[in-house]
Amino acid sequence: IHEGARPPLARPLSVIAHRGASAAAPEHTLAAYRTAIEEGADGLECDVRLTADGHLVCVHDRRINRTSNGRGAVSTLELAELAALDFGSWKNGDADPYESPDTDADTDTADPERTSVLTLERLLQLVADAPRPVELAIETKHPTRWAGQVEERLLGLLDRYRLRTPVRVMSFSARSLHRVRAAAPHLPTVYLMQLLLPRHRDGRLPEGVRIAGPGMRILRARPDYVERAHRAGNQVHVWTVDDPADVELCARLGVDAVITNRPREVRAQLDEL
Ligand code: G3P
Ligand code: CA
Repeated sequence: IHEGARPPLARPLSVIAHRGASAAAPEHTLAAYRTAIEEGADGLECDVRLTADGHLVCVHDRRINRTSNGRGAVSTLELAELAALDFGSWKNGDADPYESPDTDADTDTADPERTSVLTLERLLQLVADAPRPVELAIETKHPTRWAGQVEERLLGLLDRYRLRTPVRVMSFSARSLHRVRAAAPHLPTVYLMQLLLPRHRDGRLPEGVRIAGPGMRILRARPDYVERAHRAGNQVHVWTVDDPADVELCARLGVDAVITNRPREVRAQLDEL
């Protein structure tokens, strides 16, 4: 991909599964990603963090308390310690702060694909083995503690797997994206935004970044942002788009990708529009 070109997408509006199909299965588990592929997602989103012994694992929070039966920060634990924990059963209990479990979903918590911590490497293998092309959007989670090691490991793995499908790196940290761009200038990057800062209101992004990642709240408040970003030559990938009214707004505004916990429902709604 050349600088200035808009990266290709599988469809006019890509449906990207947020942490996998995380309304149906425990987030960031192999089961959540397999389900997303089965549900027709165009792509998969994941957050990555570095363990104390240098492995990238797919975990959203700094600490593992919410999504496992263990405690502590990912960065202070080794992969073997994480591998001994249960990252899935919380989804079936009262501790679910995120989504109520889908009653149709497989609730077999003995299934290791539903309960094991997921390494980025295993997720890359899943995408490589998928029966159809699947995009991958990998978010570096505020990688301040590791000052460059997260990006280094990530790019090393991407180099090893060389997926044939679109891969992009996302972050709220412009510094993290800058590191990625410096080492891999052709890898598309996504600048995630919680708030629309004045310097980005005209659709421009940090240097070299060609995809804006605004939260849905930004789009509701400033729907004209999409047109501005497109005029500046950038794509718009919006998160987290679960509500049918938000899906419709995104489609109407012509966003390029929606990141959702409910890929099946969103795909079905878009197919009806
Ligand atoms: O896809 C971007 C979105 O995932 C950012 O928010 O907190 O869910 O990682 P968060
Ligand atoms: Ca994320």
